[in-house]
Amino acid sequence: MQFKKTKTFTNLARSFAGESQAGMRYQLIAKLATAEEYAVLADTIRTVAKNETYHAKTFYNTLIQKAGNSENIDLNAGYPFRFGTLVENLGFAADDERAEFEEVYPAFAREAREEGFEDVAALFERVAGVEKEHNILFTFLRDALKDGALYKRDKPTLWICSECGYRATTKEAWKVCPLCSAKQGFVEIPLPFDN
Ligand SMILES: [Fe+2]
Ligand SMILES: [Fe+2]
Repeated sequence: MQFKKTKTFTNLARSFAGESQAGMRYQLIAKLATAEEYAVLADTIRTVAKNETYHAKTFYNTLIQKAGNSENIDLNAGYPFRFGTLVENLGFAADDERAEFEEVYPAFAREAREEGFEDVAALFERVAGVEKEHNILFTFLRDALKDGALYKRDKPTLWICSECGYRATTKEAWKVCPLCSAKQGFVEIPLPFDN
């Protein structure tokens, strides 16, 4: 069968569109985080935005490699359009990542396998693995920000200023860095699942 007639062709195009939009949405959320003086949180979100851009790039390249160029690809697909507070946006992002790794990419991988494109199935599965980590990250950040726990923990925790490197182990990070006067939003966010 001609590749352009397969479900995998459309699924790659949809994935490119979805990842491109996710990358853009996360940049908008990062901008809001910066405006609210959460500099390190903004950087963290921007890193995820970059990941999505590379997913989009890989899907785009794969599609063109397999199908050649296309003038225009019609897609019948839905995409989320939501924006709220920083906490809400992190929740939306967590939900979108969950849908990707639990539903969308497993279904696309299954269809690619059925159509005999094992390499594309494996690509969808590799991306799904990253989206799962993104879901864990966004869920943690949403909960921490909502509960006022981004810079406050139950146990003594190592806090490091991302600007000057000042560090101290306390339950709560400083409001203003005692060394360089950078605000709390510049303190590195310790992630409980880092290893
Ligand atoms: Fe992605
Ligand atoms: Fe993601």
